[in-house]
Amino acid sequence: MDGQAAKPLLVLLVAWASWPIFVGSLALEADRLHPVILLPGYGCSQLDARLTGEFDPASAAPSSCGGVLEGKKGWFRLWNNRTALQEDPALVPCYAELLRLVYDPAAGDYRNVPGVETRVVGFGATRGFGSDDPASKNGCMGKLVQALEAVGYREGENLFGAPYDFRYAPAPPGQANKEFSCFLSRLTALVEHASERNGDMPAILVTHSLGGINADAFLRRSPLAWRTRYVKHFVMASTGAGAGVFLLRFGSTSPPSPPTDPLSFANTTRSFASAFSALPSPKVFGDARRWWSREPGTTPPTTSRSTSGPAASPATRWRAT
Ligand SMILES: *[C@@H]1O[C@H](CO)[C@@H](O)[C@H](O)[C@H]1NC(C)=O
Ligand SMILES: *[C@@H]1O[C@H](CO)[C@@H](O)[C@H](O)[C@H]1NC(C)=O
Repeated sequence: MDGQAAKPLLVLLVAWASWPIFVGSLALEADRLHPVILLPGYGCSQLDARLTGEFDPASAAPSSCGGVLEGKKGWFRLWNNRTALQEDPALVPCYAELLRLVYDPAAGDYRNVPGVETRVVGFGATRGFGSDDPASKNGCMGKLVQALEAVGYREGENLFGAPYDFRYAPAPPGQANKEFSCFLSRLTALVEHASERNGDMPAILVTHSLGGINADAFLRRSPLAWRTRYVKHFVMASTGAGAGVFLLRFGSTSPPSPPTDPLSFANTTRSFASAFSALPSPKVFGDARRWWSREPGTTPPTTSRSTSGPAASPATRWRAT
């Protein structure tokens, strides 16, 4: 990157991100444009769904959904289908049900509700981030993409996107983790592709929020030699790497439209593996006791069970018991 291009990129990223030290070295050390791969925040990736013969609208979804979902063929946009939910609020509980995850104790892993298949839309590109919702476009790196393009980045050439199914999370080592493992394989291939397409220069991962937690897991699980060869920098913005509370606000987590009942997605977001991945890490908080309450100002009970205890173990961060 020449000096002129470097400056706006530096300014822009510092303004957008909260980690200027990393970002400064990112822009200033490079004399050419290293490929950039963006991982957006929670809810920014788009998901398609398809119903299989196993799907039973009568038992799986609220009865009002039966008619809507019966005979639905092929892939359709499940998240974020703001248009459909605004046009027909009766779809809200149906989509909330289709988006729910179940924990399968036999497999030791999370999966969709029976009869629902899902896929992430547009892996490799940034265009889909926050689509179908103008209000969320900027929270989903929209302005960052524009600014990167203004300094010479081009989608598919040296600018790439790694959307992911934000319902899933990295599992502790040794635990089945099918969906997230697939994401890690695809991200490995994308980073290698980005580097090879750009004269073998290593790539820069720029992440926001939950994207940072996922990229962190990705890098930790990649061999050091591979990381040294393929990854130049890792920039995290707004990532509570030791813990965060926003994923615990189950009831208010990004409903896709203003639904009449703000809790209409609460049972759904509560079922996500990612809901627990932001519980306090013992690596950061040690064995300090944690206490959560809905009521501001309440003090922890002297005798208690699951609501207080040591910082969450890796198993608890994977699945609350
Ligand atoms: C959004 O949902 C509606 C209603 O289910 C569906 O008809 C439409 O195809 C979906 N949008 C996309 C982009 O798939
Ligand atoms: C969420 O689950 C609870 C317990 O099963 C149920 O009582 C409640 O009606 C559900 N809420 C919605 C919006 O589906």
